Amino acid sequence: IPVDPFDVVVFGATGDLSTRKILPALYRRFFAGQIPPEARIIGAARTELDAEGFRALTRTAIAEHVGAAKRDPEQIEAFLQCVDYVPVDATGTTGWQELKALIRPGVVNAFYFSVAPSLFGDLAERLHGHGITTDDSRIVVEKPFGRDLASARALNATLAAHFDEHQIYRIDHYLGKETVQNLMAVRFANILFEPLWNSQYVDHVQITVAETVGVGGRGSYYDRSGAMRDMVQNHMMQLLCLIAMEPPYHFDPDAVRDEKLKVIRALQPAAQSDIVRGQYLPVKGDPARRGYVEDVENPDSRSESYIALKVQIANWRWQGTPFYLRTGKRLRARTSEIAITFKQPPHSIFDEADDSWRENVLVIRLQPNEGMNLKVMIKEPGPGGMRLVQVPLDMSFAEALGEEGADIPDAYERLIMDVIRGNQTLFMRGDEVEAAWAWTDPIIAGWEARGDRPQPYDSGSSGPEDALMLMHRDGRRWREIRE
Ligand code: BG6
Repeated sequence: IPVDPFDVVVFGATGDLSTRKILPALYRRFFAGQIPPEARIIGAARTELDAEGFRALTRTAIAEHVGAAKRDPEQIEAFLQCVDYVPVDATGTTGWQELKALIRPGVVNAFYFSVAPSLFGDLAERLHGHGITTDDSRIVVEKPFGRDLASARALNATLAAHFDEHQIYRIDHYLGKETVQNLMAVRFANILFEPLWNSQYVDHVQITVAETVGVGGRGSYYDRSGAMRDMVQNHMMQLLCLIAMEPPYHFDPDAVRDEKLKVIRALQPAAQSDIVRGQYLPVKGDPARRGYVEDVENPDSRSESYIALKVQIANWRWQGTPFYLRTGKRLRARTSEIAITFKQPPHSIFDEADDSWRENVLVIRLQPNEGMNLKVMIKEPGPGGMRLVQVPLDMSFAEALGEEGADIPDAYERLIMDVIRGNQTLFMRGDEVEAAWAWTDPIIAGWEARGDRPQPYDSGSSGPEDALMLMHRDGRRWREIRE
């Protein structure tokens, strides 16, 4: 169903995020018929360009980041008719009147701050000061949303000076992923899982986000963050919340976010002994795969490209069920999954089959090969007595849903359309972000104070050795990292 016409202004329109994600996502939604031809997409950046110049840049972005099946020349030209550009100086006076003239009254408008967070205040002030925004305008911001609690609070305050919380859309692109939203569907649209979803029946949970890429060209940003700030405080935390939260009373923005916030607030402080950090080593003889410290050009770097942690949630539902989180770059395979390992049945009636018994595990594969896999025990076929064997109830969303399942939209497509529709469910509220930093701050301060160094690990491995120990000492083991 097409949305009503809207005006969206992308600040930082000539930058990396805009050309790689935002403009291609908008085109794909146009191609899908969801964006009407009356919509206006206005690029705004310091670069001196005219509308034609920006359309050419948009055309290139589509050519590079949209799959061939959706690159229809007529559709692209029609989409470009919606595209305009104004050179705007975020910290000066240039361009603001011109921008104001392009915004249509009475039409939904959204302003995407695809710029460094240090410019959020300047943009907010000028948009407000020039009377470009109204009480219904929407502001979209991206991570990094602060680098600790103090800076996140300051950013929240900067935005709050001109905009109400209901106008602010903080993107965590993991929430836009189809399979991440599916976590809520699986949990709350089935009766099957919820009765078992607690520490009485769940032994532990593993959340893995493994990447094969290194830090690439983002070395200077990444080295100031490390995996804790880059992945755990936001994406991993969101996954943890969706798995651990209580059922919200309704699929409604504040109901969902209230429940997530309670999980974050219930997180116990993580002990340093429950954390393992690593840095990837170079691949010998392969200049394209340098080590972490070479990639970030900081031989003395103490930032982590890998982190594993054991997390405890101190509430009635989860007391005693650890959540093991790990994420890292240059690992063996690109795979993100959540695995819920259940406990043993209270009593076994199969004496001779005891040694073949294995735990039930529910694996939700987030990417790639999105799907679900439930490991169950059955009788091993044959006349040899009661031997048990574990088999997978395996489902690939693409196979189960046919064409629709195979055509999974990019996270940004979903999120940008939610901004236009005014639905904040999949966006982080200010208090959520602050609570997540409040939990991470002391952990980071702990290793910084001690001058801890991450352990080296081989590129293409499963991470540092000590990460294995983190689970072994609890009598558990990580699942294999593989596609
Ligand atoms: C980003 C991080 O937020 O998420 C990157 O900054 C990371 O370091 C990326 O590579 C992972 O996202 P995805 O969608 O590729 O899993």
